[in-house]
Amino acid sequence: MKFFVDTANIDEISELSEMGIVDGVTTNPSLIYKSGRDFKEVIKEIARIVSGPISAEVTSLDKNEMIDQGLELSKIANNIVIKVPLTEHGLIACKNLSKKSIKVNVTLCFSSSQALIASKMGATYISPFIGRLDDISNEGLNLIEEIITIYSNYPDRLSTEVLVASIRSPLQVAQVAQMGADVATIPPKIIKQMIKHPLTDIGLNSFMEDWKKTGQTF
Ligand code: G3P
Repeated sequence: MKFFVDTANIDEISELSEMGIVDGVTTNPSLIYKSGRDFKEVIKEIARIVSGPISAEVTSLDKNEMIDQGLELSKIANNIVIKVPLTEHGLIACKNLSKKSIKVNVTLCFSSSQALIASKMGATYISPFIGRLDDISNEGLNLIEEIITIYSNYPDRLSTEVLVASIRSPLQVAQVAQMGADVATIPPKIIKQMIKHPLTDIGLNSFMEDWKKTGQTF
């Protein structure tokens, strides 16, 4: 499973990228707002750091404006993926941009029927938001299972990758990997949490203490 990092914070992207763990980046208007930076400048800067897919989201609700914005954003670098919302206009923009060989990430997906139609409209990625479903007491993981089943029923016709978004815990990352999701977009804090385990720390402390007791140096 590919790891995308879900942030527009350059420091976080640089640090994780240096670790070698970043396969791509996803941003959205809320993450741009949080960064406090100019949208296109941030996308340009991310593209200088990361060679994998970078999702940049359109900011209009109108199909023609979405297409124009998508065309403009796609000129920033050859690894820009245009993120459009899962609306009628968003899907028309998706179809149009994908016909021009521009990769599209269809975002704000909350049902398997939405995921099916996005795939038929040429989405490169579908972004189901599992955390936000959990927030309203719907099992987000069930949606991932349903979408993977649907897409795998038609491997020759539906080539959209399942990009799990709105991830809130390390456990969810492992669960969607078990299901065979193609990509998880993960907040930096959760990537760091995935590394940690109290038994690793306890075990390492005791190895270090015993090593000292041997009186040896390396
Ligand atoms: O990239 C969009 C998605 O990951 C948002 O997550 O935590 O705002 O629901 P969240």
